[in-house]
Amino acid sequence: MTHERFNLHSLADLADKVAELGLDLPVCAQTELLNSSVLVGQHHIANRFALQPMEGCDGTQDGRPDALTFRRYERFYHGGAGLVWFEATAVASEGRANPRQLYLNDTTWPAFLMLRERALQAGQQSNGADYLPYTVLQLTHSGRYSRPSDKPAPIIAHHDGVLDGVFHLPPDYPLITDQELQALIPQYVAAARLAEHCGFDAVDIKSCHRYLINELLAAHTRPGGYGGSFENRTRLLLEIVNAVRAACPDLAVWVRLSCYDGHPFPWGWGADSSDEHTPDMHEPLHLVGLLQQAGVAGINVTAGNPYFTPHINRPYDRAVVNGKLPDEHPLIGVARLLNLAHLVKEAYPSLLVIGSGFSWLRHLLPYVAAGVIQQGWMDLAGIGRGAFAYPDLVRDVLLTGKMNPKRACITCSRCTQIMRDHGCAGCAIFDREVYGPIYAAGRVQHPAQSG
Ligand SMILES: Cc1cc2nc3c(=O)[nH]c(=O)nc-3n(C[C@H](O)[C@H](O)[C@H](O)COP(=O)(O)O)c2cc1C
Repeated sequence: MTHERFNLHSLADLADKVAELGLDLPVCAQTELLNSSVLVGQHHIANRFALQPMEGCDGTQDGRPDALTFRRYERFYHGGAGLVWFEATAVASEGRANPRQLYLNDTTWPAFLMLRERALQAGQQSNGADYLPYTVLQLTHSGRYSRPSDKPAPIIAHHDGVLDGVFHLPPDYPLITDQELQALIPQYVAAARLAEHCGFDAVDIKSCHRYLINELLAAHTRPGGYGGSFENRTRLLLEIVNAVRAACPDLAVWVRLSCYDGHPFPWGWGADSSDEHTPDMHEPLHLVGLLQQAGVAGINVTAGNPYFTPHINRPYDRAVVNGKLPDEHPLIGVARLLNLAHLVKEAYPSLLVIGSGFSWLRHLLPYVAAGVIQQGWMDLAGIGRGAFAYPDLVRDVLLTGKMNPKRACITCSRCTQIMRDHGCAGCAIFDREVYGPIYAAGRVQHPAQSG
């Protein structure tokens, strides 16, 4: 199946394409059902839209939100989503993915408090005084993708027959030790306490996109207490969840979980051991059950490795420089992501589930969001790149039932390219005044930089 760029105009075109490709993807014209609320704990999430964590790489060198971070969240809140999932925020300095990644600690927390407050003010000005989105802060350690200063400084959980080569890591490159992994648990707890203090409703123990905890889930070849068996590979995540739940009983814990990464065995997670192109949800579903028993409120389902299997992570029309277009129609990628969320919801109906991967659908996104909500595939539709391009899309859908096709994200990968070029990420097309020059400068400085 060959890649094809978006060329759909109407709901009917979308339904035809879904049928032509033989996909299981519900669509529904009744977008008003996205205006219904969902209860999480004591909090009514006002509508069925979640904004996904979208890293801007625009904090200060010591990890505080900076001017562009404030601007971004004010725009997001202005858009009126029921849930805002704040971006990847490091719990340890050596685990920062870039020198401007947010980092929550004893010194930086007041700036996080201010970020939430200022965003809320902006949101209430446009959406009314009762607007109070549910907020989740994503806590992370970037593991193999750590780059706390200007050079990559990988911290790896296991040797990987594919990724070690990409990083030019020698066979004796040291693994993070079991003791070092255990020492991260109090760092997650400390960050969770601070997140609660800053007013976040929940934290996410980020377990996706092949950052440290997600890499551990695939650590079949790792010796010791955190590798090999399913029980060992999932141990650190469950230990962190239990420790955070014990320390902060009033703070909800969510997990953004990659359910499939497309990596070959024995280095993959959620992938069929004889064919990495096929998901195998046996282990991810088992893990979700354990997370639910541990008291996790919900799962934000995602997939893929943005550096290695980017089309699984975020279906796109254009690749980053030197990146590839996959041999599959992007709608297949959208359907794969949403079907993974469906499988989680079907197996654990009382868990809240968010799906990812809607942005390729452009202005037809609300019809698929309404379809999957109507069919009970998930509780909330999570929007990533679409919100960089068109932060008011939720507002427009809630008020008018549709999006403006001229403002929808065109999945051109420029936001990712900016990240790869070590700039501050945003939409270089629809937020051109701010991000056009950043994109252009990055292209001049890093002309050969690929994804
Ligand atoms: C520039 C950029 C930054 C991102 N930052 C994060 C992040 O901080 N945490 C995370 O879990 N996912 C991150 N993602 C992935 C998105 O949350 C989302 O899963 C992906 O873009 C697919 O959803 P979409 O089709 O709506 O864009 C990022 C993606 C992009 C393009």
